[in-house]
Amino acid sequence: MVSSSAPGKIILFGEHAVVYGRPALAVPVTQVQATAKVTEAPRPGVRIEAPDIGLSSELSGLAPDHPLAAVVRNVFAALGVDSPPALMVRVTSTIPVAAGLGSGAAVSVAIIRALAEFLDHPLANEHISSLAFEVEKLYHGTPSGIDNTVVTYARPVYFVKGQPIETFRVARPFQIVIGDSGQSAPTIESVGDVRELWEADKSTLEGLFDEIGKLTDRARASIENGKWEMLGPLMTANHALLQKLTVSSPKLDLLVDAALGAGALGAKLSGGGRGGNMIALVMEEDAPKVAETLKSAGAQRVITTQVG
Ligand code: PMV
Repeated sequence: MVSSSAPGKIILFGEHAVVYGRPALAVPVTQVQATAKVTEAPRPGVRIEAPDIGLSSELSGLAPDHPLAAVVRNVFAALGVDSPPALMVRVTSTIPVAAGLGSGAAVSVAIIRALAEFLDHPLANEHISSLAFEVEKLYHGTPSGIDNTVVTYARPVYFVKGQPIETFRVARPFQIVIGDSGQSAPTIESVGDVRELWEADKSTLEGLFDEIGKLTDRARASIENGKWEMLGPLMTANHALLQKLTVSSPKLDLLVDAALGAGALGAKLSGGGRGGNMIALVMEEDAPKVAETLKSAGAQRVITTQVG
């Protein structure tokens, strides 16, 4: 049996603008993870089980665009395996789905690593990330590649689409409270809607993306210089720009305001938006109060995580 796990992730700055070539910062969230176990099966064939989504099926019975089937088929193709041995892939995950925590990418990365190792062909991170990226297209439409990159390397990443991975140094660790709006929001829809806005008015949208890109670069410098407190206003400014891109929601705005009211230094939605998660930067001693306030304001679940 081979088992592999991959963490969740949050985007600190730059979502959506990253699809248009601007930088984004993202970090792993290790409190939640996806795990894939690959075992020999008693009967011929490849079986996929994902109890969290009620899936138990032969690979041959799943459509080509089923993300779990696509991951497994892509690994076989990449490794030149024409007739796979009898095996079973079992996937479990504690990462909320469609919530901006990278659950799709984590599931893909965990399966790719475990399956490649089971087949005696362990893959380099670069290869794992690019295989997961192919599957991200099924989840996201036109993904930037940020999710598969952070989840594969499990390190803070300064991400620019199409460029080699760049990690960054967290000079002083800091705390983020993540609040789940409980609203499921497929990223493919918000990414598609932003594209429509961009098609209709490229100069305004490019201007907003530039502003987000500048915030992201200032945020990276603050983190590397150990001045993470400066991230607060940058986060709140990033949220206002995401509102202009129409990807916030009344619930996300409510949670952002609640966090700020409870003493967070800054807050914003994180990920595709319209639902999913928001994040708040907090002084360590304020984390419990901000977490409680988010729960009272309707967050379905709250995770406090340390970055760095
Ligand atoms: O919703 P998430 O966390 O998977 O993040 C999506 C990030 C976007 O910038 C909106 C899309 C992308 O592919 O980068």
